[in-house]
Amino acid sequence: MTEEVSPAHAIHGVVSVPGDKSISHRYAMLSSIAAGDSQIFNYSTGADCQSTLTCTQALGIEHTFSEDEGRRKLTVHGKGAAGLSVPASMLDAGNSGSTIRMLSGILAAQPFTTKITGDESLVKRPMRRIMTPLAQMNARIEATNENFPPLTIHGSALRGIDYSLPVASAQVKSCVLLAGLYAAGETIVREPISTRDHTEIALRELGADITLEPRIVRLQGGAQLSGKTLIVPGDLSSAAFFIVAALIARESNLILTNVGLNPTRTALLDVLRGMGANIKLLHIEQVNGEIVGNLEVKTSRIRGGVIEGSTTAAVIDEIPVLSVLGAASDEGLIVRNASELRVKETDRIEAIAQNLRRMQVTVNTTEDGLEIPGKQQFRAAQIQSLGDHRIAMAFSIAALAADGPCTIEDAEAASVSFPEFYTTLRHIAR
Ligand code: S3P
Repeated sequence: MTEEVSPAHAIHGVVSVPGDKSISHRYAMLSSIAAGDSQIFNYSTGADCQSTLTCTQALGIEHTFSEDEGRRKLTVHGKGAAGLSVPASMLDAGNSGSTIRMLSGILAAQPFTTKITGDESLVKRPMRRIMTPLAQMNARIEATNENFPPLTIHGSALRGIDYSLPVASAQVKSCVLLAGLYAAGETIVREPISTRDHTEIALRELGADITLEPRIVRLQGGAQLSGKTLIVPGDLSSAAFFIVAALIARESNLILTNVGLNPTRTALLDVLRGMGANIKLLHIEQVNGEIVGNLEVKTSRIRGGVIEGSTTAAVIDEIPVLSVLGAASDEGLIVRNASELRVKETDRIEAIAQNLRRMQVTVNTTEDGLEIPGKQQFRAAQIQSLGDHRIAMAFSIAALAADGPCTIEDAEAASVSFPEFYTTLRHIAR
């Protein structure tokens, strides 16, 4: 599918974004192994989170979608820690790294063998990072070249470990914690830098015995989780596209409602404000341990700057759209310490550079980052999403600032996290 995106001089309106992808995965997985029903409101509409549900269904966990006073409600009929059953065939995680990496922690503890794979992008993504700690916990996992899906996971009785993550990764941390739920004794995960803590918050919400210190999580094995009502906040990483669109356009005033503002995710807002962005937080509240609020964004003069160190890890999913902002900023953007971008849904350093160049924007790539001079004009071009949702959406935002209409090839990639993206964009772009 090809989408045409025309230039816009303003971004206006009040919109919501889909439920947070990271939180949706966690609620689906944890409610499946909790005892009793969970009602999950605002579950992500993205294909990735549907992949998690397809996998849990194949493991014998029923779920239904219904309407509840105009809100989409997902009911998951959890069967408790020992309730999963042998799947009839290979599980399919689709495009979703979170599904395969986190679910593997649960599968490693089952009294059966499971095979799990994904699409042509996912089978190129590294899995050794979860295989290493799971092997230390006593699981046996086979993979192509000992690193890539399909994974064959021979579940077994696990033991708790004290694991220091070599790479800052919330997916790996979560995988170990999910396995730790089933393990004998205590599981400790130590992080080099803080990553998103949605798993820890959700585990506590559903009744796990978990203790948190800065960059250290301790979880006691053997707890029985209980199902409950859960409300998923809007996804700040999806909101990021519209935030940048509003900042760049000449006369914007945009309100984004019910956005997740967990402090492990809001480095994006700190980075943007540090560059001069006019963003206000309104109506902040706490729901299921997560912070939620509205964002008001107005046109701003953006200085640009350097993103490096722990900040890079904290805004890793937003680098594609921040790169677009960097080219439009006064001083440009330098991104360092972003080698993880090379193993995302695409090699995002190359995908960003390739599409910036298509728009005749100058960019230099390094092994672990990007250097993008500021004050550049985007030229109308044919954008290639390369099947990567965040590339499709980031360059739709660049297209709003281009000197003529752009086409986005393989635009449907956006539906991995945000199926309503183009409709919402048309609604707010003038
Ligand atoms: C995620 C963690 C991050 C992020 C991904 C979602 C999660 O990946 O890029 O989009 O939900 O835990 P890593 O754990 O590989 O850093």
